[in-house]
Amino acid sequence: MKIALIGCGHMGSALAKHLARSYKLTIYTRNKEKGRKIAADLGVLWADSPSEAAKGADVVILAVQPRDLTSLSSTLELTPDQIAISVLAGISISRLQKCFPDALIVRMMPNLAITAKKGLIGLAEDGSLPEAEKVEIEKMFAGMGMMYWVLEKQMHAFSALAASSPAFVFTVMESMIDAGIYLGFSSVLTEEIVLTVFEGCLTLLREKHGHPGDLKKQIMSPGGMTVAGLRALETGGIRKTFFDALDASCRRSVEMSQE
Ligand SMILES: NC(=O)c1ccc[n+]([C@@H]2O[C@H](COP(=O)([O-])OP(=O)(O)OC[C@H]3O[C@@H](n4cnc5c(N)ncnc54)[C@H](OP(=O)(O)O)[C@@H]3O)[C@@H](O)[C@H]2O)c1
Repeated sequence: MKIALIGCGHMGSALAKHLARSYKLTIYTRNKEKGRKIAADLGVLWADSPSEAAKGADVVILAVQPRDLTSLSSTLELTPDQIAISVLAGISISRLQKCFPDALIVRMMPNLAITAKKGLIGLAEDGSLPEAEKVEIEKMFAGMGMMYWVLEKQMHAFSALAASSPAFVFTVMESMIDAGIYLGFSSVLTEEIVLTVFEGCLTLLREKHGHPGDLKKQIMSPGGMTVAGLRALETGGIRKTFFDALDASCRRSVEMSQE
């Protein structure tokens, strides 16, 4: 199977690195100097334009920013035997079909953790993709993390929960690191402690198959220091803030699909 990948930023480069191991890959990105270097480093083919990259490809992966879709589609025509896989957040299948009316369309929502093989990938199509092609697509991204086919209308929520939320988690980690420095530890030691706390929590959850709420109770003693800290979190509205953050991301995805 021949694959073309257009747009080598954070996500495109990560996908190119993975695909370069097992597929004949051609890449194109707007910054040609950067693109040629990526192609040379990965040992894949470089094309001088989007249409040259897509020529003869079975699958064309679109990894540009949503705002760049219109200009890209004016320089790229796809054929009925080609599948376009779009990672563009909030861009609907119907919008993609307007840009590439002849190709089969698949939407894909990966999160950044695919770069560490611990990612999440949501996939959606409109019912026209043959089962065999679905299996081929699953093979292409196998090893990058968990993969789920979801309904297109669920893509907004999946994007918020799986792709945006790592940024929320990093913000929580960063806040804890800052607080550790405030409490008098060096930034190096604080970072190590906070990272180990997160790793420990994940291991506990996985090994004990418990719910976070049950494990939380094991750390609280009546009238103790943990519950005092939890009270501060609740007073600050931590739950509402997380509900609001995921809801805002999801709503923004809906808005972007209508822009
Ligand atoms: N980052 C994430 O965690 C994540 C997660 C899920 C989905 N996504 C989606 O993935 C897409 C890419 O995100 P990103 O974080 O990788 O963005 P990014 O780092 O800004 O990369 C976008 C790339 O597209 C290139 N580009 C722009 N217009 C182009 C054109 N007409 N032809 C070819 N290449 C073009 C840019 O080239 P230049 O560098 O030369 O400008 C840039 O390298 C977005 O649509 C985003 O919604 C990202």
